[in-house]
Amino acid sequence: MTRIAHISDIHFGRIAYPGIVDALVADINAADVDLVVVSGDLTQRAFGHQFRAARQMLKAFDAPTLVVPGNHDVYPWWRLFSRLLDPLRRYRRIIEPDLAPSWRNEDVAVRGINSAFGWAVQGGRITERELEQIRTGYDGAAGEALRVLVVHHHLAELAALAGHDRARGAEHAFETAQQAGVKLILCGHLHIAHIAPVGLHPGDGIIVATAGTCTSNRGRGKDKAVNHYNLIAVHKDELQIEERVFLPDQNTFHDVAEHRFER
Ligand SMILES: [Fe+2]
Ligand SMILES: [Fe+2]
Repeated sequence: MTRIAHISDIHFGRIAYPGIVDALVADINAADVDLVVVSGDLTQRAFGHQFRAARQMLKAFDAPTLVVPGNHDVYPWWRLFSRLLDPLRRYRRIIEPDLAPSWRNEDVAVRGINSAFGWAVQGGRITERELEQIRTGYDGAAGEALRVLVVHHHLAELAALAGHDRARGAEHAFETAQQAGVKLILCGHLHIAHIAPVGLHPGDGIIVATAGTCTSNRGRGKDKAVNHYNLIAVHKDELQIEERVFLPDQNTFHDVAEHRFER
């Protein structure tokens, strides 16, 4: 069995409560996970001090981390030249030089891709480079391994959140993920937690797990004042995803829902 914590939209610069980052780290370390996945938006404005705070948090996890950037991690609009020429320079320098990181064991093969670009502001974008990273991302993975894709923006429309942002090129990327055998997509960006299978036909569907914002005061919709993350257990025949929510008066995270899917 492999356990993965999936956090997203940390947004250093807009942290909701003084103790929430430490509470998140303690909750995840107590869960004894094998991997911490971070699906982007580590900062609010891509400032150096916000990235350094994020790096400090990442180092506090006992488990290895797999991180992809979000649209808030590119240089802001008033750094126009940096934003256009090398939008993720600071992210790569302080957080993670590899924009297509991967991690695997015998149960799970995880590939991350970037969807944040300087000139496609909010909704994100998937280019041919990322499609190729999806296609080759699972080469050599064990046949039984659950194939997981991590990306900040959404590749498919979730019926329950109709009209939400989707990355440019999303449809093609979703099809590419299906062809690559991806069964689970971990994403964020919407600041609303939602977990649902998505796919045109039974059998080739993909479970899309959107994490809410784990630590910021930027929640939206039903999760306006909610901080959330996903705790995933990959069993041989089953995938469990537990949603955990922060209780400010107790300064701890608690489970609020559990989803089970056959593999
Ligand atoms: Fe965000
Ligand atoms: Fe975002």
